[in-house]
Amino acid sequence: MSRFVLLSPNGEFDQKLRAAVAHGLRGSVQTIASDILPAGPQELFALLNQEQPEVLIIGPDVPYEEALRFAKVFDVQFPGLSLVLVSDVDPDFLLHAMRAGIRDILNPQADAAEIRVLLERACQSFATRNRGPETHQTENGGKGLVIGVFSPKGGVGKTTLATNIAIGLGQIAPMSVVIVDLDLQFGDVASGLYLNPEHTVTDAVTPAAAQDSLVLKAFLTVHPAGIYALCAPPNPVDADHITPDQISHLLDQLAQEFQYVVIDTAPGMQEIGLAAMEQCTDAVWVSAMDIPSLRGLRSGLEVLRQLEIEPESRHVVLNMADSKTGLNVQDVESTIGAPVDVSVPRSRAVALSTNRGIPVLQDSKKDPAVKSLRQLVERFNPAWRAQAQRKLHRRVVI
Ligand SMILES: Nc1ncnc2c1ncn2[C@@H]1O[C@H](COP(=O)(O)OP(=O)(O)OP(=O)(O)O)[C@@H](O)[C@H]1O
Ligand SMILES: [Mg+2]
Repeated sequence: MSRFVLLSPNGEFDQKLRAAVAHGLRGSVQTIASDILPAGPQELFALLNQEQPEVLIIGPDVPYEEALRFAKVFDVQFPGLSLVLVSDVDPDFLLHAMRAGIRDILNPQADAAEIRVLLERACQSFATRNRGPETHQTENGGKGLVIGVFSPKGGVGKTTLATNIAIGLGQIAPMSVVIVDLDLQFGDVASGLYLNPEHTVTDAVTPAAAQDSLVLKAFLTVHPAGIYALCAPPNPVDADHITPDQISHLLDQLAQEFQYVVIDTAPGMQEIGLAAMEQCTDAVWVSAMDIPSLRGLRSGLEVLRQLEIEPESRHVVLNMADSKTGLNVQDVESTIGAPVDVSVPRSRAVALSTNRGIPVLQDSKKDPAVKSLRQLVERFNPAWRAQAQRKLHRRVVI
């Protein structure tokens, strides 16, 4: 059964749509390649040889009047289905389209990434309008990885790493990654990803969202690179009302819905960060290459060991690595008291990317920092983990 149905004689758009779905969405596309639409839903279903799809896309080269008539019938008979019209409309037409029940408009010039984001939104609203017990189940049955990025000191690159990990994982598992900004007072994930979120963590911890993961998902922001984001509230005062228990529950909910939950945190060891850490399967510890930051990390790791809340997997990242600091990796490791897993060099491209709101892994530039960031992302790839575990096992056996 096809999840998406395209009605359009335009072969070029058909190919673009199929590429958008193939690179990141579950389900397949079925096309009725004609500019004459079926008389009604039953006729369409008979042509498709299936019951209703989730999203029906009325593509380019279908006459507007035809499209609107068709949409109206669907809106009355199948309000649960998401209808998308592909059009570079003028505002007058838009009003008619909305009255006819069209729920979203897609520009025919849109690229595959834009098409994917729109289709994902259409599927989300399909799920919301067709709620049943099956929509609450996860696809793989188990929970996703919860990856927290932490550091006792500020300004060492947590947000830079968290946004790049999320974007990098989004390339491995499109639409299966959510980044959560738990630097609740001064978070800058939104700025790092150039997002202007409609909803934030404040909405995500309301009872409505806490009791229903579909409502929670409706509060996430879709990023064009194929990931979701839950940004920090714009007003630092709002953050005061959010409790550690709410955060624990939120992360648990997200881990049931997503393959990867990536968390950016505030510097230090505050209650919210510790609550998040307890939900993490993986902790990425970041230090810059200076003695105060390295010593801070050492004490931080010691405290956690005493509290016994260290997540299962630890990844130590030395960021802004620079040979001119007078320190080498051995000095760093002996100061932290732990081996460095990934070392990210100081890079102009990274500094620039923060100001542009485009993480370097989104840009796929050639840069030494990009290579190290990819290594870091790879550590969360199931294939890498399986291999690492086998190596570990071999070592233990010997
Ligand atoms: N490898 C790098 N090379 C060059 N600049 C970097 C690198 N990593 C981070 N930066 C820059 O350092 C600054 C601080 O980074 P970032 O905001 O990620 O740190 P942070 O730990 O999240 O800070 P805070 O504790 O305030 O949240 C940013 O301007 C960023 O561009
Ligand atoms: Mg930060």
